[in-house]
Amino acid sequence: MDSEEFRQRGREMVDYIIEYMETLGERRVTPSIEPGYLRELIPKNAPNKGEKWKEIMSDVETKIMPGVAHWQHPRFHAYFPSGNSFPSILGDMLSDGIGAIGFSWAASPACTELETIVLDWLGQMIGLPQEFLSFSDGNSKGGGVMQSSASECVLVSLLAARAQKIKELKVVHPFTEDGVLLSKLVAYCSREAHSCVEKAAMIAFTKLRILEADEDLSLRGATLAKAIEEDRALGLVPFFVSATLGTTSCVSFDNLAEIGPVAKEAGAWLHVDAAYAGNAFICPEFKYLMEGIEYATSFNTNPNKWLLTNFDCSTMWVKDRFKLTQAMVVDPLYLQHSHSDKAIDYRHWGIPLSRRFRALKLWFVIRNYGVEGLQNYIRQHCRLAKRFELLVKADERFEVCNNVRMGLVCFRVKGEDQLNRKLLSKINASGKLHMVPACIHGRFVIRFCVCAQDAKDSDIEYAWKVISDFATELLDDESVDEKSQIKLTNEEANDEEFVQHVGNLEISELIDLMEKVQFPMQKNHSKPAMSRHPLTFQVLAQCKTTKAKCSLMTLPHHVVETPVFMPVGTQGSLKGIIPEQLEQLNCQIMLGNTYHLGNRPGPDLLESCGGLHNFMGWPRNLLTDSGGFQMVSLLDLAEITEEGVKFKSPYDGSECLLTPERSIEIQNAIGADIIMQLDDVVSSTVSGPRVEEAMHRTTRWLDRCLKAHKRPESQNLFPIVQGGLDPKLRTESAKQLMEREVAGFAVGGLSGGEGKDQFWRMVHLSTDLLPNDKPRYLMGVGFATDLVVCCALGCDMFDCVFPTRTARFGCALVDSGQLNLKLKLFGQDFRPIDEKCDCSTCRRYTRAYLHTVATIETVACNLITVHNVAYQLRLMRNIRESIMNGTFVEFIFNFMDTMYPKKDFPVWATDALRAVNVDLIDRTKEQNPDS
Ligand SMILES: Cc1ncc(COP(=O)(O)O)c(C=O)c1O
Ligand SMILES: [Zn+2]
Repeated sequence: MDSEEFRQRGREMVDYIIEYMETLGERRVTPSIEPGYLRELIPKNAPNKGEKWKEIMSDVETKIMPGVAHWQHPRFHAYFPSGNSFPSILGDMLSDGIGAIGFSWAASPACTELETIVLDWLGQMIGLPQEFLSFSDGNSKGGGVMQSSASECVLVSLLAARAQKIKELKVVHPFTEDGVLLSKLVAYCSREAHSCVEKAAMIAFTKLRILEADEDLSLRGATLAKAIEEDRALGLVPFFVSATLGTTSCVSFDNLAEIGPVAKEAGAWLHVDAAYAGNAFICPEFKYLMEGIEYATSFNTNPNKWLLTNFDCSTMWVKDRFKLTQAMVVDPLYLQHSHSDKAIDYRHWGIPLSRRFRALKLWFVIRNYGVEGLQNYIRQHCRLAKRFELLVKADERFEVCNNVRMGLVCFRVKGEDQLNRKLLSKINASGKLHMVPACIHGRFVIRFCVCAQDAKDSDIEYAWKVISDFATELLDDESVDEKSQIKLTNEEANDEEFVQHVGNLEISELIDLMEKVQFPMQKNHSKPAMSRHPLTFQVLAQCKTTKAKCSLMTLPHHVVETPVFMPVGTQGSLKGIIPEQLEQLNCQIMLGNTYHLGNRPGPDLLESCGGLHNFMGWPRNLLTDSGGFQMVSLLDLAEITEEGVKFKSPYDGSECLLTPERSIEIQNAIGADIIMQLDDVVSSTVSGPRVEEAMHRTTRWLDRCLKAHKRPESQNLFPIVQGGLDPKLRTESAKQLMEREVAGFAVGGLSGGEGKDQFWRMVHLSTDLLPNDKPRYLMGVGFATDLVVCCALGCDMFDCVFPTRTARFGCALVDSGQLNLKLKLFGQDFRPIDEKCDCSTCRRYTRAYLHTVATIETVACNLITVHNVAYQLRLMRNIRESIMNGTFVEFIFNFMDTMYPKKDFPVWATDALRAVNVDLIDRTKEQNPDS
């Protein structure tokens, strides 16, 4: 093949790959052929003379493709994803073109140097401690390397640990044979560890002790400590512990924070295998799962699994590269070079001498997607897995068997293993989906992994439909079988012995039997019980001083990190900002107003286009209010009766009635992920019997809303705590609402003109009453100080029109308060609104420019709104990060000092914070909940 032909065939190959990717979905996901199929199709001997390219390619389609399992297929849900993306394919193509063998620095300097740099990049993205990186300072001992598989990373670590330990033992026992010392070494891993650990120990000829994991399939420190103690008593020497973050069977996480100190005390090398889940640590919300990583000696993750990079690309880091290489250095003359002392020679970091230029593809991928693009990819997979989990949980025939945190859901039909085996084999045989099994707590489970690079909601829905249809068919067959052989499962006939075989039955009897047997099935299939909500709430970190916490709330359209601020959109759009910009700002949930949407475009139109998400092109979560508040606040003529809110339409003056049922009907048509009950809103300045009446009516209206709610499987209905400023009524209201089965709670009737002193006390009381394991949404709160204080008081969700409304008047939010950009003093100010802000406005526009256009040009509204939303979201992110890091109290101090540089803190805020053990005035006082 000459260059000219390569040019042509290369282009054809790219076209073939694109065509393959785009039409993949039309193929069977796994082949239906028997072993040896290819022998029949391909000649016994290699061709003597070269063949035409066309003939070769034609055999690809007719002979090879029929035997390919399509790992990139949208219906492939087996194992873990197999990394793949166009930039990565191009990287490998270039590496092949260069065709260098980079075993030493001199053998191809760029090959070595790029690998070191890209490993530093990825190590930083993951958040590995500095010691693992090679750049950190001039004489760092750490660094990263690419191996071809996680198995190799584990083996190499174990070999290095073995060499290290024998060297140590030699000092004490200089005359003992190596083989004798070797016989004393023992390594540890959990039963859930990948089999490659066992293989490594086998190759290295060392003992391996496999330990039991806990209920959550996590290896605990105490288990390891006990095993080590027993082994030491037998004269054995612990030398290696392999911990797993994201196990193969169910993506469980060993408890590094506990294991780390035990391994350290025992003088053992701690390797952390995070082949799959390690990639997710590039997202800040998952870093908590790495807690204890500072104890690790080495760490590996496979970008060729879950970071869009083609096999082979297994990245590994060590804290001390000399400990790694001492086990592997051999230095013949023909491999030495003049820069050996200064440069890294990767041949000493692993088993093979020859190495490809693999860093190119990872470099291409990271640059082409950006950290943000890669984070979005990971988050999409995690969200879809959560979506799948919710579908499984909503079907009473099934159970979910793992803690779903990443892209894997393990599930099973409630019942015998045999039933699940049958279900999986039927599904796989159909070629409609491909999944593999695992064993969890001794039971057969089916693993569903989100694998396709651009996996979509529709793929998840399709997969669930296939699974649930096969289950229905199988369970029907089973019940008939069971029925015909043993006894009825039907409630009414529970103990009735059934002796006749189906074959002996008359048709009419058979139909009768089918009905009887199917009845309980259909009942199981009915609407999910009210305890199952399309919302999960996982507390990640709880502040040790205040009531603040950081959680992950998973909703049908996106994962939400809380505490969260939700920007408010009105007619299905946020004034002055478009959905793409909100996505770019990493906004995970926004608010829509039911009152406005109900008028325009109206529920019928929304229903016909599948809801507001589709209508406005917003793929993430939505929350809608009930519409009641708008009526009471916007319309003078509203009148509230037991039936609902009566008002005159501002559009045509006609008399209208918003009942709880109607509010839910509209909200069901809008389709938001969280919807609110219609509540009886009384101005917070009103007192007396009206407040009590409103509180009780709110509970009655909640019951009507719950009853009217038609889509509990995809929308969460939140009740609203009322009771004005009366602690007794608030307490009673919360108590009544908590008796209902709901996924979260809102605190309403505040931030409406009451004194701040009463405001915070009511918030404090409400969060004391409401459960900590469900989201608490404080309605209508959005000033920065209020957000910080109310997070400390234990609220998780907030909304307010203020940041976007004030932007329209030319006011920009900054850490020290607000800048009124219309003021003359900004006319010549060429700084951005905020030098530290990375929003698209601050990156490009000056205060002077914004001063000129503010409130005059519509574009100014967009520019300032983008910044204000970015400000709110960043504030919440900083709050979350400080809670996660255990530095929330310091964060509060810094925040308040910046906002009030003269230390004129509002009295209410000082009091509120003191109620949660934070003293703004006397900071020497230990910030301690018991003091
Ligand atoms: C946790 C874990 N470790 C190791 C491996 C083995 O990976 P490799 O094929 O790269 O050797 C896997 C594969 O799924 C895994 O899940
Ligand atoms: Zn900005």
